[in-house]
Amino acid sequence: MSKRIAVCPGSFDCITLGHLDIITRAAAMFDEVIVVAMINHQKTYTFTPQERIDMIKKSTADIKNVRVDMYDGLLADYAAKNGASAIIKGLRAMSDFEYEFQMALTNKKLNPEVETLFLTTSAQNMYLSSSMVKQIAIMGGDISDFVPPVILNDILKKLSPGKQK
Ligand code: PNS
Repeated sequence: MSKRIAVCPGSFDCITLGHLDIITRAAAMFDEVIVVAMINHQKTYTFTPQERIDMIKKSTADIKNVRVDMYDGLLADYAAKNGASAIIKGLRAMSDFEYEFQMALTNKKLNPEVETLFLTTSAQNMYLSSSMVKQIAIMGGDISDFVPPVILNDILKKLSPGKQK
């Protein structure tokens, strides 16, 4: 039987415990999970592509069937090139739904071979987002409950120098 490969796409600017939860659960369901940091030229990122993937790599180092990559292009093409049968997304609240539904239908049109699967977020991550984490860090708040411990200092170094632990 061929390997079941899933793609977990996102900005990951920066990866949070919410992302890590979805990646961990996806890795339990697929033979291989490729976490791909997408590059969107219309978007401004806080962290460089290399910083984003370095933080994902550190955070997922313990999950042996996870691979980390970055891609500048269409997700549907990336999935096809990498033999993925599924795109995994985490759904937090209803506010995520409309945009995610639109992306899922668009990706299905572009690549009918790939299914988008939604995992409901764990309750403790309902409200968690990279932008909230960054806002708290910039204002000197404690983000240690929201991000993987191994990348805490990487985030603080950039957003709140002097607060490193
Ligand atoms: O973490 P985010 O910002 O919610 O992730 C959004 C992302 C990167 C998954 C989305 O913007 C994406 O898939 N971009 C790739 C470009 C693409 O394929 N666009 C057309 C289908 S929506």
